[in-house]
Amino acid sequence: MPSSVMLTSNRGGDHASPAAVSAVGLRKSYGDRTVLDGIDLHIPAGSVFALLGPNGAGKTTAVKILSTLITADGGQARVAGHDLAADPQAVRAAIGVTGQFSAVDGLITGEENMLLMADLHHLPRREGRRVAAELLERFDLTDAAKKPAATYSGGMKRRLDIAMTLVGGPRIIFLDEPTTGLDPRSRHSMWQIIRELVTGGVTVFLTTQYLEEADQLADRIAVLDGGRIAAEGSAEELKRLVPGGHVRLRFTDPAAHRSAAAALREAALPHARPRPGGRTPADEALALRIPSDGSQRELRSILDWLDAAGIEADELTVHTPDLDDVFFALTGGTDPQPGRPGRPEEDVR
Ligand SMILES: Nc1ncnc2c1ncn2[C@@H]1O[C@H](COP(=O)(O)OP(=O)(O)OP(=O)(O)O)[C@@H](O)[C@H]1O
Ligand SMILES: [Mg+2]
Repeated sequence: MPSSVMLTSNRGGDHASPAAVSAVGLRKSYGDRTVLDGIDLHIPAGSVFALLGPNGAGKTTAVKILSTLITADGGQARVAGHDLAADPQAVRAAIGVTGQFSAVDGLITGEENMLLMADLHHLPRREGRRVAAELLERFDLTDAAKKPAATYSGGMKRRLDIAMTLVGGPRIIFLDEPTTGLDPRSRHSMWQIIRELVTGGVTVFLTTQYLEEADQLADRIAVLDGGRIAAEGSAEELKRLVPGGHVRLRFTDPAAHRSAAAALREAALPHARPRPGGRTPADEALALRIPSDGSQRELRSILDWLDAAGIEADELTVHTPDLDDVFFALTGGTDPQPGRPGRPEEDVR
């Protein structure tokens, strides 16, 4: 059983394309706690990379190392073509970082926060004003620009945070949990902002707790667990690791549920054959699960079989594996087992 699964994809994952970020064997410990235990990364320029992992997995630590805020104990990394250890100054000049916790100063206005960043980047005053106004406009903050940032909503603060990161025109940006705490609408508008950045050629390294976010945005996703990358690939590739796809049948009548379960156990459906010694479904929700890849062909055969067997479920839903399945299968202390779902449900197989 592999301790890590590396999948290859041409979508943003071609090792021949220039790397915005590459790392080999990155290690970091705090005391006797090993946080990163040998991390390899290859992030092509112009792509979106998402680092996923449970709380405390080391996502922020990885971002801090790659953005020169802290140093690694071991390993090498190049960011924007510059060696992290040999030339941190050049790395800093090429990147922008939006930390997990806001860098916005609440006591001054949004505009003043932006101008402060322009000063930090040594932009001439007129140029600084132009860039600040342009970014405030782009992030829909012009109306609030003269108000103290402390009065902004969470979503506005996060937008200001990212606008501040962009003042220096970075080619690579690190976004540590850019949408944590945002409502669905603000999250979607943040996703749009990130997509626009990528269209403009920026490489985005993001960490997230939201699997849907990685699914929506990332060309490649790495799942960090136990200090190592447990799996890496596109969302589709990762989902293929966990064949949790199934058709779920729900019944309101316990008798109908019982007879359907019995019929299913005897069925010759190639994808729903009962396991030898299969248990009797003990399902309080009166649901049954038939493994399925969700393809039209399989669905038709399942429906035909249900008709022929006279089974009438009250509700039928198709569940395709999502990143939640991958996340639960790969993280949480147990060894990943590709090909085995992390959260077995009902037992009709
Ligand atoms: N300065 C530090 N001193 C000691 N331990 C630290 C320090 N910074 C981080 N850690 C520890 O390293 C581990 C990884 O922390 P990190 O912040 O990188 O996790 P994370 O994946 O970003 O988690 P979260 O999802 O909660 O943001 C944690 O156990 C944390 O307590
Ligand atoms: Mg973090």
